[in-house]
Amino acid sequence: MKILIIGTGYVGTTTGLIFCELGHKVTGLDLDEQKIQALKAGKLHFYEPGLEPLLKKHIEAHNITFTKDTETAIKENDLIFICVGTPQGTDGSADLTFVKNVAKSIGQNLNQYKVIVTKSTVPVGTAELLTRVIKDNQTAPVPFDVVSNPEFLREGSALHDALHPDRIVIGTTSETARTIMRELYKDLHCPIIETHPKASEMIKYAANSFLALKISYINELARVCDKLSINVHDVSNGIGLDHRINPHFLKAGMGYGGSCFPKDVNALIHTAKQQGTPLLILEAVVKVNAEQPVYVIEKIKQALGGEVQNKTIAVLGLSFKANTDDTRESPSFILIDRLLEEQAIIKTHDPMVKSGASHQCMTIAETVAGADALVICTDWDEYKNLDWAGLKSLMNQPYIIDGRNMLDKEILEGVGFQYFGIANQ
Ligand code: UDX
Repeated sequence: MKILIIGTGYVGTTTGLIFCELGHKVTGLDLDEQKIQALKAGKLHFYEPGLEPLLKKHIEAHNITFTKDTETAIKENDLIFICVGTPQGTDGSADLTFVKNVAKSIGQNLNQYKVIVTKSTVPVGTAELLTRVIKDNQTAPVPFDVVSNPEFLREGSALHDALHPDRIVIGTTSETARTIMRELYKDLHCPIIETHPKASEMIKYAANSFLALKISYINELARVCDKLSINVHDVSNGIGLDHRINPHFLKAGMGYGGSCFPKDVNALIHTAKQQGTPLLILEAVVKVNAEQPVYVIEKIKQALGGEVQNKTIAVLGLSFKANTDDTRESPSFILIDRLLEEQAIIKTHDPMVKSGASHQCMTIAETVAGADALVICTDWDEYKNLDWAGLKSLMNQPYIIDGRNMLDKEILEGVGFQYFGIANQ
């Protein structure tokens, strides 16, 4: 199948390369000249483990090409995936400007039957909206179908997730489009949910919101566990082994961040409000999540006797989670901004993110030198087994606040640190 991917960001590039792996020919279209030139040269403009070698492999095998030429790209392909961004608007809703512009171009250049698929996370009703926009811009009445086919990729493990999905969701009312989509994914072995586009669009928001809900639930529960001296990890294990609950997304920490959860939960809240049926549970999820970095700051204050003013805080980790250089909605920055407001002196480190900020240091040793407290904000593997005795000797005071519950309390206390986790007793 000849596939066009519109939008060569994180989702588009990963999706395109997965289709190459499944034996299809792919064109990546983007209006950003720099991105296109970089991709043509086999370079990604973001970090994702394993993706760059795959890009190089499929460029060399002529399975993927990149272009800025919208007209030719649309005319020459049969299956078009819309993978452009849907940023959060000022009122919390998803901004569909990019998606609508793409639909307009598709309408203007529709020369034969095509299936147009939304991969971007879009609000319920977008498939219908795109159908209207495409029709309004057609110069001749060429038939087409719009399909909703959301992605569920996690940054940092996108390749694995894309090749081993738990399920594939295909939302369409057209039998022709459904058959084409089944054929496209025939080599991936997982359940396929075939449904109405509106249900498909809702599934994506409902899945992300449910996962966010699990995280806020365990984070809020951790605060109670802290008071009662209960290890929240044991509670996560104890409830997670119940197969009706499952162990995933029950890790207490700094709160969720990233390009999806914060935006998608807000967009679903917005959709529900518009329908006059507010989602009170999700409103609480957002509130709890916003409080979680503040809870970590309380721990820092507890360690430092109540004040952070003029205290040097070493922050390890800037990305919103490990194995990505993505800092969007990262709890680290919420914590840093708050600490700066309270006139703390900040030093930061991240193995992948180069923020360019003056407080960023090259090495962990440089970051902790002279610090009154060290805070772990991102669960990078390389923070797990550091030379703790050596680092302690560089610090001004021996306090560690483990915002990710990833360190061994006994080892740290063994070398003389005072350890504060999130109900990590
Ligand atoms: C998420 C969804 O998992 C994915 O299906 C969707 O397509 C895009 O959004 P991603 O944003 O890459 O993926 O990250 P994910 O691994 O889901 O983590 C989201 C946030 O939750 C991170 O900040 C992470 O640190 C946090 N998290 C996750 C926890 O705090 N505790 C957990 O137990 C799990």
